[in-house]
Amino acid sequence: MSGLEGKVAVITGATSGIGLATAEALSERGVKLVLHGRRGEILQAHAARLPNCDVLAGDIADPATPDALVDLAMKRFGRMDIAFANAGLIASGPVDDIDLDAMSDMLRVNIDATFRFAYTALRHMKKAGGGDMLFTGSVLGTKTRPNAGPYAATKYAVEALAESLRMELAGTGVRVAVVEPGLVRTDLHRDYEVRPEIAQSVPQPLTPADVARAVVFAVEQPASVLIPRIMVLPSGQNV
Ligand SMILES: NC(=O)c1ccc[n+]([C@@H]2O[C@H](COP(=O)([O-])OP(=O)(O)OC[C@H]3O[C@@H](n4cnc5c(N)ncnc54)[C@H](OP(=O)(O)O)[C@@H]3O)[C@@H](O)[C@H]2O)c1
Repeated sequence: MSGLEGKVAVITGATSGIGLATAEALSERGVKLVLHGRRGEILQAHAARLPNCDVLAGDIADPATPDALVDLAMKRFGRMDIAFANAGLIASGPVDDIDLDAMSDMLRVNIDATFRFAYTALRHMKKAGGGDMLFTGSVLGTKTRPNAGPYAATKYAVEALAESLRMELAGTGVRVAVVEPGLVRTDLHRDYEVRPEIAQSVPQPLTPADVARAVVFAVEQPASVLIPRIMVLPSGQNV
Protein backbone atom coordinates (compact mmCIF):
# COMPACT_ATOMS: atom_id res chain seq x y z
CA MET A 1 0.00 0.00 0.00
CA SER A 2 1.32 3.47 -0.91
CA GLY A 3 1.90 6.01 1.87
CA LEU A 4 -0.21 8.32 -0.27
CA GLU A 5 -3.37 6.19 -0.01
CA GLY A 6 -6.37 8.29 1.07
CA LYS A 7 -4.65 11.66 0.60
CA VAL A 8 -6.35 14.39 -1.41
CA ALA A 9 -4.70 16.36 -4.22
CA VAL A 10 -5.92 19.50 -5.96
CA ILE A 11 -4.27 19.86 -9.38
CA THR A 12 -4.54 22.84 -11.73
CA GLY A 13 -3.93 22.42 -15.44
CA ALA A 14 -5.19 18.86 -15.17
CA THR A 15 -7.11 18.54 -18.43
CA SER A 16 -3.98 17.41 -20.29
CA GLY A 17 -0.21 16.99 -20.19
CA ILE A 18 1.77 17.02 -16.95
CA GLY A 19 -1.22 17.78 -14.72
CA LEU A 20 -3.26 14.90 -16.09
CA ALA A 21 -0.33 12.43 -15.97
CA THR A 22 0.29 13.41 -12.34
CA ALA A 23 -3.39 12.97 -11.52
CA GLU A 24 -3.27 9.48 -13.02
CA ALA A 25 -0.07 8.53 -11.20
CA LEU A 26 -1.42 9.77 -7.85
CA SER A 27 -4.76 8.06 -8.47
CA GLU A 28 -2.95 4.73 -8.99
CA ARG A 29 -1.57 5.23 -5.46
CA GLY A 30 -5.02 5.78 -3.96
CA VAL A 31 -4.99 9.58 -3.91
CA LYS A 32 -8.38 11.34 -4.26
CA LEU A 33 -8.47 14.16 -6.78
CA VAL A 34 -9.88 17.59 -7.48
CA LEU A 35 -8.93 18.57 -11.03
CA HIS A 36 -9.11 22.00 -12.67
CA GLY A 37 -8.86 23.38 -16.21
CA ARG A 38 -11.03 25.26 -18.68
CA ARG A 39 -12.13 22.34 -20.89
CA GLY A 40 -15.11 21.08 -18.88
CA GLU A 41 -16.07 18.13 -21.07
CA ILE A 42 -12.57 16.71 -20.91
CA LEU A 43 -12.52 17.13 -17.13
CA GLN A 44 -15.86 15.31 -16.88
CA ALA A 45 -14.40 12.41 -18.86
CA HIS A 46 -11.44 12.23 -16.42
CA ALA A 47 -13.86 12.24 -13.48
CA ALA A 48 -15.84 9.38 -15.03
CA ARG A 49 -12.67 7.31 -15.49
CA LEU A 50 -10.66 8.03 -12.31
CA PRO A 51 -11.95 6.85 -8.91
CA ASN A 52 -12.68 9.50 -6.25
CA CYS A 53 -12.24 12.38 -8.67
CA ASP A 54 -14.15 15.66 -8.69
CA VAL A 55 -13.60 18.49 -11.14
CA LEU A 56 -14.10 22.21 -11.50
CA ALA A 57 -13.98 23.95 -14.88
CA GLY A 58 -13.05 27.60 -15.31
CA ASP A 59 -10.30 30.15 -15.73
CA ILE A 60 -7.51 29.70 -13.18
CA ALA A 61 -6.92 33.46 -13.42
CA ASP A 62 -10.37 34.14 -11.91
CA PRO A 63 -9.47 35.26 -8.36
CA ALA A 64 -12.40 33.20 -6.99
CA THR A 65 -10.98 29.92 -8.32
CA PRO A 66 -8.47 29.06 -5.55
CA ASP A 67 -11.09 29.29 -2.78
CA ALA A 68 -13.55 27.32 -4.92
CA LEU A 69 -10.98 24.54 -5.38
CA VAL A 70 -10.10 24.23 -1.70
CA ASP A 71 -13.79 24.39 -0.76
CA LEU A 72 -14.57 21.59 -3.22
CA ALA A 73 -11.80 19.39 -1.81
CA MET A 74 -13.07 19.99 1.74
CA LYS A 75 -16.74 19.45 0.86
CA ARG A 76 -16.17 16.32 -1.21
CA PHE A 77 -13.25 14.68 0.64
CA GLY A 78 -12.86 16.58 3.94
CA ARG A 79 -9.15 17.37 3.45
CA MET A 80 -6.48 18.66 1.07
CA ASP A 81 -2.97 17.25 1.42
CA ILE A 82 -1.38 18.11 -1.93
CA ALA A 83 -1.82 21.28 -4.00
CA PHE A 84 -0.17 21.24 -7.42
CA ALA A 85 0.03 24.65 -9.12
CA ASN A 86 0.67 23.37 -12.60
CA ALA A 87 -1.55 25.35 -15.02
CA GLY A 88 0.54 27.35 -17.43
CA LEU A 89 1.05 28.47 -20.99
CA ILE A 90 3.84 29.72 -23.18
CA ALA A 91 4.19 32.84 -25.31
CA SER A 92 7.57 33.17 -26.94
CA GLY A 93 9.22 35.23 -29.62
CA PRO A 94 11.68 38.06 -30.19
CA VAL A 95 11.10 41.09 -28.02
CA ASP A 96 9.99 43.28 -30.97
CA ASP A 97 7.61 40.67 -32.34
CA ILE A 98 5.99 38.91 -29.37
CA ASP A 99 2.19 39.02 -29.18
CA LEU A 100 1.69 41.37 -26.22
CA ASP A 101 -1.81 40.15 -25.41
CA ALA A 102 -0.63 36.53 -25.37
CA MET A 103 2.26 37.60 -23.14
CA SER A 104 -0.14 39.29 -20.70
CA ASP A 105 -2.30 36.17 -20.59
CA MET A 106 0.79 34.13 -19.80
CA LEU A 107 1.87 36.49 -17.01
CA ARG A 108 -1.63 36.31 -15.53
CA VAL A 109 -1.78 32.51 -15.54
CA ASN A 110 1.86 31.57 -14.89
CA ILE A 111 2.51 34.18 -12.19
CA ASP A 112 -0.60 35.88 -10.83
CA ALA A 113 -2.89 32.83 -10.78
CA THR A 114 -0.09 30.57 -9.53
CA PHE A 115 0.69 32.93 -6.65
CA ARG A 116 -3.00 33.29 -5.75
CA PHE A 117 -3.55 29.53 -5.72
CA ALA A 118 -0.47 29.07 -3.52
CA TYR A 119 -1.68 31.82 -1.16
CA THR A 120 -5.02 30.08 -0.61
CA ALA A 121 -3.69 26.51 -0.50
CA LEU A 122 -0.92 27.39 1.95
CA ARG A 123 -3.20 29.23 4.37
CA HIS A 124 -5.29 26.06 4.46
CA MET A 125 -2.28 23.74 4.88
CA LYS A 126 -0.73 25.86 7.64
CA LYS A 127 -3.97 25.67 9.58
CA ALA A 128 -4.21 21.93 8.93
CA GLY A 129 -0.62 21.44 10.15
CA GLY A 130 0.92 20.08 6.95
CA GLY A 131 0.78 19.34 3.25
CA ASP A 132 2.69 19.44 0.00
CA MET A 133 2.67 22.59 -2.14
CA LEU A 134 4.05 21.78 -5.56
CA PHE A 135 4.75 24.03 -8.52
CA THR A 136 5.54 23.28 -12.13
CA GLY A 137 8.55 25.42 -12.93
CA SER A 138 10.82 24.67 -15.89
CA VAL A 139 14.46 24.30 -16.79
CA LEU A 140 13.72 27.80 -18.12
CA GLY A 141 13.24 28.91 -14.53
CA THR A 142 16.97 28.33 -14.03
CA LYS A 143 18.39 29.72 -17.29
CA THR A 144 17.06 31.51 -20.33
CA ARG A 145 17.42 31.41 -24.11
CA PRO A 146 16.86 33.82 -27.00
CA ASN A 147 13.12 34.34 -27.64
CA ALA A 148 12.23 32.73 -24.31
CA GLY A 149 12.68 35.74 -21.99
CA PRO A 150 9.04 36.37 -20.98
CA TYR A 151 8.27 32.68 -20.43
CA ALA A 152 11.52 32.14 -18.52
CA ALA A 153 10.70 35.21 -16.42
CA THR A 154 7.44 33.60 -15.32
CA LYS A 155 9.26 30.44 -14.27
CA TYR A 156 12.03 32.39 -12.49
CA ALA A 157 9.19 34.05 -10.57
CA VAL A 158 7.85 30.63 -9.54
CA GLU A 159 11.33 29.59 -8.35
CA ALA A 160 11.69 32.78 -6.29
CA LEU A 161 8.29 32.36 -4.68
CA ALA A 162 8.85 28.69 -3.90
CA GLU A 163 12.28 29.26 -2.36
CA SER A 164 10.93 32.00 -0.08
CA LEU A 165 7.97 29.86 0.89
CA ARG A 166 10.23 26.89 1.63
CA MET A 167 12.08 28.98 4.23
CA GLU A 168 8.97 30.69 5.62
CA LEU A 169 7.22 27.36 6.11
CA ALA A 170 10.15 25.32 7.46
CA GLY A 171 9.03 23.47 10.57
CA THR A 172 5.30 23.89 9.92
CA GLY A 173 4.85 20.49 8.26
CA VAL A 174 4.19 22.17 4.90
CA ARG A 175 6.69 21.21 2.20
CA VAL A 176 7.25 23.31 -0.91
CA ALA A 177 8.75 21.87 -4.08
CA VAL A 178 9.23 22.78 -7.73
CA VAL A 179 9.45 20.32 -10.60
CA GLU A 180 11.56 21.70 -13.46
CA PRO A 181 10.95 19.85 -16.73
CA GLY A 182 12.88 20.22 -19.95
CA LEU A 183 10.93 19.71 -23.16
CA VAL A 184 7.82 17.57 -22.65
CA ARG A 185 5.63 16.48 -25.54
CA THR A 186 2.30 18.11 -24.56
CA ASP A 187 -0.35 20.44 -25.99
CA LEU A 188 1.94 23.30 -24.93
CA HIS A 189 4.10 22.48 -27.95
CA ARG A 190 1.45 21.94 -30.59
CA ASP A 191 3.94 23.31 -33.12
CA TYR A 192 6.75 20.85 -32.22
CA GLU A 193 6.66 19.15 -35.64
CA VAL A 194 6.94 22.43 -37.51
CA ARG A 195 9.87 23.85 -35.53
CA PRO A 196 12.99 22.08 -36.75
CA GLU A 197 15.24 24.01 -34.32
CA ILE A 198 13.43 22.41 -31.38
CA ALA A 199 13.33 18.93 -32.91
CA GLN A 200 17.10 19.17 -33.52
CA SER A 201 18.02 20.24 -30.00
CA VAL A 202 15.62 17.78 -28.36
CA PRO A 203 15.14 14.75 -30.62
CA GLN A 204 13.19 12.80 -27.99
CA PRO A 205 11.18 14.97 -25.58
CA LEU A 206 9.96 13.71 -22.21
CA THR A 207 6.48 12.28 -21.82
CA PRO A 208 4.12 13.77 -19.22
CA ALA A 209 4.41 10.48 -17.30
CA ASP A 210 8.19 11.05 -16.96
CA VAL A 211 7.48 14.28 -15.09
CA ALA A 212 4.67 12.74 -13.05
CA ARG A 213 7.10 10.12 -11.70
CA ALA A 214 9.28 12.93 -10.33
CA VAL A 215 6.31 14.59 -8.64
CA VAL A 216 5.27 11.31 -7.04
CA PHE A 217 8.86 10.74 -5.88
CA ALA A 218 8.83 14.11 -4.09
CA VAL A 219 5.52 13.60 -2.30
CA GLU A 220 6.30 9.99 -1.33
CA GLN A 221 9.28 11.08 0.81
CA PRO A 222 8.94 10.72 4.59
CA ALA A 223 7.74 13.89 6.36
CA SER A 224 11.30 14.59 7.57
CA VAL A 225 12.64 14.84 3.99
CA LEU A 226 12.13 17.69 1.51
CA ILE A 227 13.09 17.61 -2.16
CA PRO A 228 12.77 21.32 -2.98
CA ARG A 229 13.59 21.07 -6.70
CA ILE A 230 13.62 18.26 -9.23
CA MET A 231 14.88 18.94 -12.73
CA VAL A 232 13.83 16.35 -15.30
CA LEU A 233 15.48 16.60 -18.73
CA PRO A 234 15.32 14.48 -21.86
CA SER A 235 18.71 12.74 -21.84
CA GLY A 236 19.30 13.93 -25.42
CA GLN A 237 18.51 17.62 -24.74
CA ASN A 238 21.59 19.61 -25.79
CA VAL A 239 20.47 23.13 -24.84
N1 LIG B 1 5.68 20.94 -22.07
C1 LIG B 1 6.87 21.39 -21.70
O1 LIG B 1 7.86 21.25 -22.44
C2 LIG B 1 7.04 22.05 -20.36
C3 LIG B 1 8.34 22.22 -19.87
C4 LIG B 1 8.50 22.85 -18.64
C5 LIG B 1 7.41 23.30 -17.94
N2 LIG B 1 6.15 23.12 -18.45
C6 LIG B 1 5.01 23.61 -17.67
O2 LIG B 1 4.14 22.53 -17.41
C7 LIG B 1 2.85 23.05 -17.06
C8 LIG B 1 1.78 22.20 -17.74
O3 LIG B 1 1.92 22.33 -19.15
P1 LIG B 1 1.90 21.07 -20.14
O4 LIG B 1 3.21 21.04 -20.82
O5 LIG B 1 1.39 19.87 -19.43
O6 LIG B 1 0.88 21.59 -21.28
P2 LIG B 1 -0.70 21.42 -21.46
O7 LIG B 1 -1.03 20.00 -21.76
O8 LIG B 1 -1.06 22.46 -22.47
O9 LIG B 1 -1.29 21.77 -20.04
C9 LIG B 1 -1.56 23.08 -19.63
C10 LIG B 1 -2.71 23.04 -18.66
O10 LIG B 1 -2.94 24.35 -18.14
C11 LIG B 1 -4.32 24.63 -18.24
N3 LIG B 1 -4.55 26.05 -18.43
C12 LIG B 1 -3.90 26.91 -19.25
N4 LIG B 1 -4.42 28.13 -19.16
C13 LIG B 1 -5.44 28.06 -18.26
C14 LIG B 1 -6.37 28.99 -17.74
N5 LIG B 1 -6.39 30.28 -18.12
N6 LIG B 1 -7.27 28.56 -16.81
C15 LIG B 1 -7.28 27.25 -16.42
N7 LIG B 1 -6.42 26.34 -16.88
C16 LIG B 1 -5.51 26.73 -17.79
C17 LIG B 1 -4.80 23.83 -19.44
O11 LIG B 1 -6.16 23.50 -19.30
P3 LIG B 1 -7.31 24.05 -20.30
O12 LIG B 1 -6.69 24.20 -21.66
O13 LIG B 1 -8.36 23.00 -20.23
O14 LIG B 1 -7.70 25.32 -19.69
C18 LIG B 1 -3.98 22.55 -19.32
O15 LIG B 1 -4.62 21.63 -18.48
C19 LIG B 1 2.86 24.52 -17.45
O16 LIG B 1 3.04 25.29 -16.28
C20 LIG B 1 4.11 24.63 -18.34
O17 LIG B 1 4.66 25.92 -18.32
C21 LIG B 1 5.94 22.49 -19.64
